Amino acid sequence: MKKVVAVLSCVVVVSFTMTCLAAETDTVAVIGTGDMGDSLGPRFAELGYRVVYGSRSPGSERVKALVARTKGDASAATQAEAAQQADIVLTLVPWPAMETVAQSLGNLDGKIVIDVSMPFKQGDDGYPEHLLETSSAEMIQSWNPGAKVVKTFATLGSQVIDDPLVEGGLVSVPIAANDRAAKEKVARIVAALGLDPVDFGPLRMARDIEIMQMIYMIPLSQNRPQNWEFFFRRSDHYGCYLSSASTSEGIMPVYDANNLAEFPQVNGAARNCVE
Ligand SMILES: NC(=O)c1ccc[n+]([C@@H]2O[C@H](COP(=O)([O-])OP(=O)(O)OC[C@H]3O[C@@H](n4cnc5c(N)ncnc54)[C@H](OP(=O)(O)O)[C@@H]3O)[C@@H](O)[C@H]2O)c1
Repeated sequence: MKKVVAVLSCVVVVSFTMTCLAAETDTVAVIGTGDMGDSLGPRFAELGYRVVYGSRSPGSERVKALVARTKGDASAATQAEAAQQADIVLTLVPWPAMETVAQSLGNLDGKIVIDVSMPFKQGDDGYPEHLLETSSAEMIQSWNPGAKVVKTFATLGSQVIDDPLVEGGLVSVPIAANDRAAKEKVARIVAALGLDPVDFGPLRMARDIEIMQMIYMIPLSQNRPQNWEFFFRRSDHYGCYLSSASTSEGIMPVYDANNLAEFPQVNGAARNCVE
């Protein structure tokens, strides 16, 4: 697996904090060279990652042009060849294709696999309907049990990946995963891209993220000219209340207390509850 020289990538985010990604620059496979692929590939390359695009037509003029505008030692290959070279695999294909693609990338043991997909169909009333009992991320995990699947980059438009402030402010990015180290690594990447990573817990919460994706589609179902991007304003209210409440009173047990992922605080630090 090819490694390139480590670099330090820093991004100033709107809260005027400096988020630095000490990239031990891994190789990232960008599977699918569509709207998301041609946004995330170049942005990962800006952070110092080596990008290899996985495409059904790696030799096409379109993919060559994408490789040419991607910084660093970028290249293109078939989808499986790209995935096998990579430490991080971004599966950026539509859901129906995902069922085949995610089962034909070869052995993904130990690799971080980032799922952004939205398994939905348009219902009879025109509004989106989720297609699965679980989630695309959990399906990908079941097909690749040794992979570290992370659900993220799902609830925002690709234009925000190209330019994180294009919609007028910070955009929040939910992240769900079972592997804590993988989730923390992806959270640092999200922050380094100029976005606000939010911990959504274990991978089973991926379905809730996919429901958020469907909510995102509602203005499109209504043919409204305006959409939105998710921005979570931080609140200390319930956190401070619950941390001072006795769990023996049955108010709220503390989950993940000894294994809570540490995320960069891009969107304001938590207030000290003891005041
Ligand atoms: N676009 C967004 O703003 C956005 C935002 C959030 C989430 N998403 C999710 O991101 C995923 C990709 O969306 P997108 O907008 O980038 O889609 P897209 O523009 O249609 O591109 C998807 C790419 O996937 C590959 N692909 C398509 N059909 C395939 C098949 N049958 N087998 C193998 N590969 C196939 C193609 O790449 P090659 O031609 O190189 O093979 C294609 O360019 C979707 O699941 C979507 O729900 C998109």
